[in-house]
Amino acid sequence: MKSFEELRKEIESFQIENAEALEAFRLQFLSKKSDIQSMFNEIRNIPAEERKQFGQLVNEIKNFANKRFEEFKASYDQQAEVKTAVADITRPDTQVSVGAMHPISIMMDQVRRIFEDIGFTTVTGPDIEDDWHVFTALNFPEEHPARDMQDTFFIELHPDILLRTHTSSLQVRTMEAQKPPIRVICPGRVFRNEAITSRAHCIFHQVEGLYIAENVSFADMKQTLLYFAQRMFGPDVRIRLRPSYFPFTEPSAEMDISCYICGGEGCNLCKHTGWVEILGCGMVDPNVLENCGIDSKKYSGFAFGLGIERMTMLKYKTNDIRLYFENDVRFLEQFKAATK
Ligand code: PHE
Repeated sequence: MKSFEELRKEIESFQIENAEALEAFRLQFLSKKSDIQSMFNEIRNIPAEERKQFGQLVNEIKNFANKRFEEFKASYDQQAEVKTAVADITRPDTQVSVGAMHPISIMMDQVRRIFEDIGFTTVTGPDIEDDWHVFTALNFPEEHPARDMQDTFFIELHPDILLRTHTSSLQVRTMEAQKPPIRVICPGRVFRNEAITSRAHCIFHQVEGLYIAENVSFADMKQTLLYFAQRMFGPDVRIRLRPSYFPFTEPSAEMDISCYICGGEGCNLCKHTGWVEILGCGMVDPNVLENCGIDSKKYSGFAFGLGIERMTMLKYKTNDIRLYFENDVRFLEQFKAATK
């Protein structure tokens, strides 16, 4: 009869790679004819005082063999399952969840596409800017109260370096680099020193536009913006321009669209006025043209700027700007259908 130690070693070193080997293992160690079974049969011939200990050892070795058998079997079953899964082409596919584009990206793309269709090209540029491109070139003199409307984040070590408050900085960069005619749109992220509420955030996105050529008039601007509003909100939308102030445009205006929810009747969205504000615009101030090296006697132009979060809130009827920055998948998933 084999010793317990020999048996244990045999069990341990037994190689099992396939079903046949597994069956051989079972026959050798766990069947009625196995060495272990003969040890069980032997128990009754062992002297009474050693019987208990012997019985325990036989049991132990049997449990050990059983454990090895179950382990091999489990891993073998698993492998077999993987094999059938690869082979079984009728098995239902695992559902792969498809993501959605972020609503801000969807809206930026939409605005871009509308303007690109009428000949505007897209320019992008740095989020971290200098004072000249964000303020001074755009006619905001130092210490002028107009700067308060666009307080931002300054890099303390270098007071000339700041986070841009609008993408108008790209209009300056474009005018400095190109000769008219110029037709560009400038999408991008902007920053302002604002407390975060449901309607304001210290980071948001804009698309601004600029058109400079000979004989560009206020009427050209109005018609361009009407085209934009109707493509974005539907062919029945009307616009109105209200006088406003921006340091870099003269005259300046805010543009409202007729409320696309109530059609102008008055509802919660338009606060019962029938109109919803969507963008700022105006004729580029001659000082700005000159600052950027463009002859203001020869050329004129218009500019406009719209907040993407605001447009997105209007279009998708959400009432809290923070949703766009929290990245809660339950919110973002709802834009699957709008993702192209
Ligand atoms: N830059 C302005 C803002 O961020 C928007 C604007 C752009 C207004 C162009 C007029 C013309 O508030």
